[in-house]
Amino acid sequence: MTKRVAILISGGGSNMVALVRSMVGDHPARPVLVASNDPQAGGLQRAADLGVGVAHVDHRIYGKDRSAFEADLNVKLDTARPDILCLAGFMRILTPDFIARWQGRMLNIHPSLLPKYRGLHTHARALEAGDAEHGCTVHEVTAELDGGPILGQARVPVLPGDTPETLAARVLPMEHQLYPAVLRRFAVGDRRPLFLP
Ligand code: GRF
Repeated sequence: MTKRVAILISGGGSNMVALVRSMVGDHPARPVLVASNDPQAGGLQRAADLGVGVAHVDHRIYGKDRSAFEADLNVKLDTARPDILCLAGFMRILTPDFIARWQGRMLNIHPSLLPKYRGLHTHARALEAGDAEHGCTVHEVTAELDGGPILGQARVPVLPGDTPETLAARVLPMEHQLYPAVLRRFAVGDRRPLFLP
């Protein structure tokens, strides 16, 4: 049975594009919705151009009421009846209630080799630490921020003279390889971690 995938974004959505483009042919899943907390997110137009339904719930009108924001987000999601939720550059912290509803079928991609560098500014932190390698992780989302079971990782070398920008630019293409590869396995219930290269 083809799995229905909704993707949550906040910005340009390059990971969303990679996921959508991968779900073709004999792939066990298909994209059914791309939703954003920002009505101006560039990824919404990119998703529409790829023929995927889009929606937005502007988090700013809810102020600090995360539950009200998430209740309206769930209404939009429910219209698409997703089996799997992929967070892809989604920059809002989710409440335990939202996570409890989707746990076990919600993935995220994080730009570090978790458990190293949970949170923000991961590339700068890897450089400050003098790490020889860096990368990205796809994990199941749990109430522990960036802490759920790891489903895949991709590694890149840190090179002399790297800046956070050059390092991010080396990691991002690996994200675009890793996330679709993990989703394809996850969609058939295969939770064995995948390591690239
Ligand atoms: C990426 O570095 C991703 O790891 C992080 O957000 C950044 C932008 O992602 N979650 P995208 O281009 O919006 O997919």
